[in-house]
Amino acid sequence: MILLWEIDTPIDPALLSLMQAAADCALHMEGVTRPCAVSVRLCDDDAIHVINREHRGVDRATDVLSFPTVSYPEGVTAGQADKLLRMEWDDELDACMLGDLILSVPHVLAQAEEYGHSPQREAAYLLVHGICHLMGYDHIEENDKRRMRAMEEKILNAVGMSRDEQASISDETLLALAISARERSYSPYSGYAVGAALLCADGRVFQGCNIENASFGLTNCAERTAMFKAISEGATEFTTIAIAAEKSAPWPCGACRQVLNEFAPDIRVIVTWDGHVDQAPLAQLLPHGFGPKSLAE
Ligand code: THU
Repeated sequence: MILLWEIDTPIDPALLSLMQAAADCALHMEGVTRPCAVSVRLCDDDAIHVINREHRGVDRATDVLSFPTVSYPEGVTAGQADKLLRMEWDDELDACMLGDLILSVPHVLAQAEEYGHSPQREAAYLLVHGICHLMGYDHIEENDKRRMRAMEEKILNAVGMSRDEQASISDETLLALAISARERSYSPYSGYAVGAALLCADGRVFQGCNIENASFGLTNCAERTAMFKAISEGATEFTTIAIAAEKSAPWPCGACRQVLNEFAPDIRVIVTWDGHVDQAPLAQLLPHGFGPKSLAE
């Protein structure tokens, strides 16, 4: 999912990575295979108050507002509305525009405190709630409300943000997040797009894609993009990395094996391509690896 950010009020960047993963997951869980985009504005209470008054006639601040572009027929959601999504295709974005979301950053933080959970859970919840509206869900009738809540929980569980915040994400979701990250690959020279999703022991997921360069040698692989993002955000322990390509198995290159070995010699590597899945522990991919321990010894 392409998120077009408009950030008026600063927010912890780690929340933005999580929101990206949650948005990718929402499309996957809904079964939407077409690329989609949503614009997300992060603002303060005064700004959301004005929008709420002008567009909905409600004279108060709120946590999240959603303005869908698609009008779904009764009972239909994005997963069953490919024709309607196609009508919202944007040539410049190369994606279907699902609509706009506005989130109040002070509301995210205050509600997290009020409900006794992390700002991560609250930010992911509000984004997922808004995206569900943009995908045709609502909570006016009791039946619809149950359906929407079930979908929200399914998406939040999948990104490890369930109510107890303990559940870790499944291999299937990690692979889906790697496949979504692949959509953001910058690979005009090789045409070989790769995506990765790195699961940390604390439940966070960092996505990465390969990023090429006209000077060729400066190319960064998807795995290293994900790992460098994670290290620079303070993650220290890693359990699994999922890697996705299209036509052949994207087993990590030698350089990536060496970088993974630096931080996570025991990591499990899962690869997916063309509907296939395979996996191996890094120790098997890099036998007799040279790492921090070698120097210490
Ligand atoms: N690539 C990765 O991103 N990960 C791998 O494990 C193998 C290769 C990228 C680098 C380059 O952009 C393209 O794939 C072709 O080598």
